[in-house]
Amino acid sequence: MERLQKKIANSGYCSRRKAEELIKEGKVKVNDIIVTELGHKVDDKDQIKVDDILIEQEQKVYYLLNKPRGVVCTTDDDKNRKIITSLIDTNLRIFPVGRLDYDTTGIILLTNDGELSNLLTHPKNNIEKTYIAKINGKLLPNELMALKKGVIIDNIKTQKARVKIKSYDKKTDTSIIELTITEGRNHQVKKMFERVNHKVLKLKRERFAFLTLDGLASKDYRLLTVKEVKQLYNLGKNTK
Ligand code: URA
Repeated sequence: MERLQKKIANSGYCSRRKAEELIKEGKVKVNDIIVTELGHKVDDKDQIKVDDILIEQEQKVYYLLNKPRGVVCTTDDDKNRKIITSLIDTNLRIFPVGRLDYDTTGIILLTNDGELSNLLTHPKNNIEKTYIAKINGKLLPNELMALKKGVIIDNIKTQKARVKIKSYDKKTDTSIIELTITEGRNHQVKKMFERVNHKVLKLKRERFAFLTLDGLASKDYRLLTVKEVKQLYNLGKNTK
């Protein structure tokens, strides 16, 4: 069940505020009965009309993409760079769930479901994201511990993280580190490593919650299954 104004706004007909006005003005009918109460709850079976015109609910879609390097996670870009939605063949108004940097690769969800996107990006829900970072140098035990416990970035301490050293290459003096975090702050991984004096040379997100890149080459994408969408909704139950 969803609030009437939200359902109208989610259809793309107008903003939520405009929908509230329309409801108050008596222009909205649910199953052919005028509803002026803002909190009125509706579900997918209810027929909603504004000015006697039926509102079509946009079909919800959920894509999992293996983002390549050189793509921005916005729906338009003033520098004319390639935008992430252009990689998906759809006419629906999809957007990325959270962001990966221009030079970061890996798993990202795209959807037109604002409700699920909010649940998955809400810090309260502690959705795990696993990154593989190539950094310069060797991560020392005290640096590893600091990353695990939390470091201060932008004046706020990061939450506890899981950190594993996967390998160290003596020849290039670089390390591969696996890092699992539950937040999604701006450039978080790069800033965390910066705090312990290492530079991220390459970054890939390998896991988002229980979803992985299995079977997806760079630029490839697939639709989520109904079961996966339900599982994602369940992860967001803290903020429902
Ligand atoms: N952290 C970063 O620094 N960059 C990303 O793209 C994702 C997480």
